Amino acid sequence: MFEDALGAAQDAIGGFLSERLGTLGDDRVAEGMRYASDGGKRLRGFLVLETAGLFGVPRDQALWSAAAVECVHAYSLVHDDLPSMDDDDLRRGRPTVHRKWDEATAVLVGDALQTFAFELLSDPAAGDAEQRVALVASLARASGAQGMVLGQAQDIAAETAGRALTLDEITELQGNKTGRLIEWPAEAGAILGRADPTPLRTYARAIGLAFQIADDILDVTGDSAKAGKALRKDAEAGKATFVSLLGLDGARARAGALVGEACAALAPYGERSQNLQALARYIIAREM
Ligand code: IPE
Ligand code: IPE
Ligand code: MG
Ligand code: MG
Ligand code: MG
Repeated sequence: MFEDALGAAQDAIGGFLSERLGTLGDDRVAEGMRYASDGGKRLRGFLVLETAGLFGVPRDQALWSAAAVECVHAYSLVHDDLPSMDDDDLRRGRPTVHRKWDEATAVLVGDALQTFAFELLSDPAAGDAEQRVALVASLARASGAQGMVLGQAQDIAAETAGRALTLDEITELQGNKTGRLIEWPAEAGAILGRADPTPLRTYARAIGLAFQIADDILDVTGDSAKAGKALRKDAEAGKATFVSLLGLDGARARAGALVGEACAALAPYGERSQNLQALARYIIAREM
């Protein structure tokens, strides 16, 4: 069952992270790292475990990569919530790091979570030497100046552009901002499994876009208590989103079509990809 598999992955990743981060002592940055990396849906980590699982990679090995992408993701959220970015007070149902402590702590917690991710990937338990270099290089590319960070910069630039972005521009921006960190797990699964990444890349690109369309829909229709973060922020900021460009029904139809594309790309893996297919459907049906 998908729900059981996701729940088990959440527990495994949470347990792994609290064990690894537990070795860092109890100063404020270490405490903030544990706080910020706790909770969440763990979709990116789950994707690593499931794609690596297609190729029989031991779960204990894949967990290092799953935890690493969750650390980069958590860092991106800590910085995304800062007053100079989205200025949010609530994340995963709790005060954001800069609200619980202060801005300097939030900057440093994000920095340290990011470097910790690469420390995890460089551990001998994460893969052989060649795999570790490939994992480090690909996650660095997905996160950095041509990946997630570029998407965040494009998102901020869009707010002051003085005109609404086009659908192509939004698609590119979201592909960087959200897509790249959802595509990386598929890449990682293929690296760990020494497999052709092409089908998984197609799958991940489609669910990455569907994920962001769902995020935009949730921003309009969702319940903030369930989502654990402030909603209705996009329209307030006058942001062009998939919903503002396609309308709610159009956005839902586009997300549904992307789920179909994603599942079709999994055909080579047959039954073994059941959880990945269910994940694609969950991504657009979720309430948080
Ligand atoms: C939220 O990501 C930020 C976006 C990229 C839209 P998630 O919805 O995956 O956040 P968590 O990890 O479950 O809190
Ligand atoms: C956040 O996007 C994306 C990253 C942190 C890379 P959003 O700003 O739309 O995410 P939420 O809505 O705050 O979760
Ligand atoms: Mg943002
Ligand atoms: Mg935000
Ligand atoms: Mg959003």
